[in-house]
Amino acid sequence: DWNPDSFIDSTIKELKEKLGDDKVVLGLSGGVDSSVAAVLLHKAIGKNLHCIFVDNGLLRKGEYEQVLDSYQHMGLNVRGINARELFVGQLTGIKDPEQKRKIIGAAFIEVFDNAAHEVQDVKWLGQGTIYPDVIESVSVNGPSATIKSHHNVGGLPDFMKLKVVEPLNTLFKDEVRRVGKALGLDQALLGRHPFPGPGLAIRIIGEITPERIAILQDADAIYINNLKSSGWYDKVWQAGAIFLPVQSVGVMGDERTYEHVICLRAVGSMDGMTADWSHLPYDLLGKISNEIINNVKGINRVVYDISSKPPATIEWE
Ligand code: XMP
Repeated sequence: DWNPDSFIDSTIKELKEKLGDDKVVLGLSGGVDSSVAAVLLHKAIGKNLHCIFVDNGLLRKGEYEQVLDSYQHMGLNVRGINARELFVGQLTGIKDPEQKRKIIGAAFIEVFDNAAHEVQDVKWLGQGTIYPDVIESVSVNGPSATIKSHHNVGGLPDFMKLKVVEPLNTLFKDEVRRVGKALGLDQALLGRHPFPGPGLAIRIIGEITPERIAILQDADAIYINNLKSSGWYDKVWQAGAIFLPVQSVGVMGDERTYEHVICLRAVGSMDGMTADWSHLPYDLLGKISNEIINNVKGINRVVYDISSKPPATIEWE
């Protein structure tokens, strides 16, 4: 019978034999898979694991700082790279979702490749690939997905010529979580909802501006904090706020307003392939709506998405 402790012991032993004194570079995403892969590799080779965590400016509010901090607390040799301006700058004026994904994927590769070059004599690329990523050609989570979908963009970036080490590639998601728990990873990290690689870029419908990112981050933080404090966060598979570039009329005090709309999305799912909209309580939705409208300037209306997948998708873009 599979158990996390024997998996950890045998994997660390194998990694030590395979890697010896070699250096490994690994991109952390803040998600479960890359974090667990990093901790396993760190246990095997210590400082020879060089982790890179990129801030693309499209993460949730405060998440870059919090996650970087927790990686440092875990003792990982991690370098944070603030590349917000690069990503957000390149997205200026772009409305098409697939184009957004391509730009973000290419920018990630550029930033990661530059950082990987600074690790002298690196021999390996570590990845948090899990078994479902191996069997489906398109993975949905983490930097590995971004990298795969750009295989054919032309010449390979140098880091993609490295040998690949994927310590989790025989595990399913729940097994990865059990390994993470046995390794002592933070529950907040292990229980984190899936979050798309392109981040908030695909939750701002249409054009992305720094103002829209800030509005969405604030609204999303109110939403997620309320899910956590009400106990709903752990009951849903994934949740997030979406910025709609639609303006509608409202009234604040004596003033007529003409502002944007925030849509709240929460779904239950097993694997993201199909999903049902979550029946959040009306009182909770009402509280979140009031808090967002009263605190986030630029928003005067909040709606709730009651579509399931299929025929809708989890993300709007
Ligand atoms: P959809 O919207 O297709 O999403 O129902 C299914 C799951 O995949 C995530 N998702 C992505 N993850 N890069 C990612 O890393 C992407 O481009 C991407 N698009 C969707 C989505 O958040 C959900 O968990």
